[in-house]
This record gives sequence, structure tokens and C-alpha cells, in this order.
Amino acid sequence: MRFALHGGMATNNRPVVCEIPVFFATSEGQTRRIAWRLASVLHDLGFESCAIDLAGPTANDIDWTQVRGALVGASLHAGKHQKAAKDFVQKHAADLNRVPSAFFSVSLSAASKNPKEVEAADNLAKAFPVASGWTPERVASVAGRLAYLEYGFFIRLVMKRIAKKEGAPTDTSRDYELTKWEVVDQLARDMARRIRARAAVA
Ligand SMILES: Cc1cc2nc3c(=O)[nH]c(=O)nc-3n(C[C@H](O)[C@H](O)[C@H](O)COP(=O)(O)O)c2cc1C
Repeated sequence: MRFALHGGMATNNRPVVCEIPVFFATSEGQTRRIAWRLASVLHDLGFESCAIDLAGPTANDIDWTQVRGALVGASLHAGKHQKAAKDFVQKHAADLNRVPSAFFSVSLSAASKNPKEVEAADNLAKAFPVASGWTPERVASVAGRLAYLEYGFFIRLVMKRIAKKEGAPTDTSRDYELTKWEVVDQLARDMARRIRARAAVA
């Protein structure tokens, strides 16, 4: 199997071998969907790729000697990325710096009609790896999802207000997919190219 998903299941203590792990942290599930898509496109390009949830134990079991490239994704909530992603990147900055790597930040601001909001999301994305001494070759700010149906009453109200400010949909009777999947596919292709280029000079 060249494309695998690893969630919160217990492992058998054996190292997990994966050429291009796509690590992710998520609160409402969109970063997981994006990680799955990245792993799937990388698989179609001929790599062993797996999406690995940073909330589960698998991320600690990776055999880094087998990793040829890595991606890490997290989403923005109240201006911050998940602590699980921060902790992971701090712990594995040296491992990540050894291979072509990318960070993708998922947010509502990335889809904003206000260029200042888009720039703010870009800046938060760029600052995330720097804070841990990780220097990815690519940092991408990716539009996420307005998941009104998944929010509780209060969060739905808050998100509706934020959406209005950012020119996003405000009908809370349904969810809105704001992710541009062609941008996600392009990120996967770009990483594949960088990994092949690194292998060519090694
Ligand atoms: C409580 C809450 C706070 C959020 N805060 C921000 C924020 O500060 N900036 C932003 O751009 N998006 C914000 N968002 C939007 C999320 O980043 C967006 O919905 C993203 O798709 C969530 O990804 P996930 O499902 O992987 O967690 C927030 C969403 C929620 C529910």
C-alpha cells in the first residue's frame, strides 16, 4: 500500500516507514481532508505517502531515516495553530530540516476578500516554523472550510460575524468549502519536484 492514513489508533511499537509523511493537526477536520488529498496526489506521483494525525501516537513512531520529504499542516483558531503541531515541529525541527519540507496553514483569512487579512494569514503561516527553528522550503497559506453545521450555537454566531467581515458566506444552514483543491494539488506536485531534485543531486 503506497498511501496510508494514520489516526489515533495504538501502534505496535515498530517504527512506521513512510517516504513522505503528511503530518496534520485539525480542530474541525478540514486540515485532515487537505492532508489526505496531499498524500493521495503524492501517491499518484509514485511516492509512499501517509497522512498522520498529530493527535495520535503514530507521529512519534516514524522512522526518520526512511523519510525523503515531509509536510506539516495545522489550522488557525483565534490567531494560533494547534499546540500539537507546535510541539511536534519543536521536537522534530532537525529531522524536518534534513529533507525537503513544507508547512501549510489552513484558515478562513486565506480566503478573505480583504488583502490585509490574506497577508495576515500569510504572515502567521511564515512565523510558525521560524519560531521552532524549522526552515521549510515551502510555506503555504490555504483556505479552509466554514463548518457552520459543526459549530455550537455561540461559535456559529462568532464565525458568522467574522465571515461577514471577511466577505465569506453567512447563511449558517450549511457548510462552505473554501479550499481551492487545485492549490493543494499544486503544493503536492511542487513537493514531489523538490524531492526528486534533491535525490538527483544526492
Ligand atoms: C473557534 C474558531 C476560531 C477560528 N479562528 C480563526 C482565526 O483566527 N483566523 C482564521 O483565519 N480562521 C479562523 N478560523 C477558521 C478556521 O481556521 C477554518 O475553519 C479552518 O478550515 C479550520 O480547519 P480545521 O477544520 O482543520 O481545524 C476559526 C474557526 C473557529 C471554529
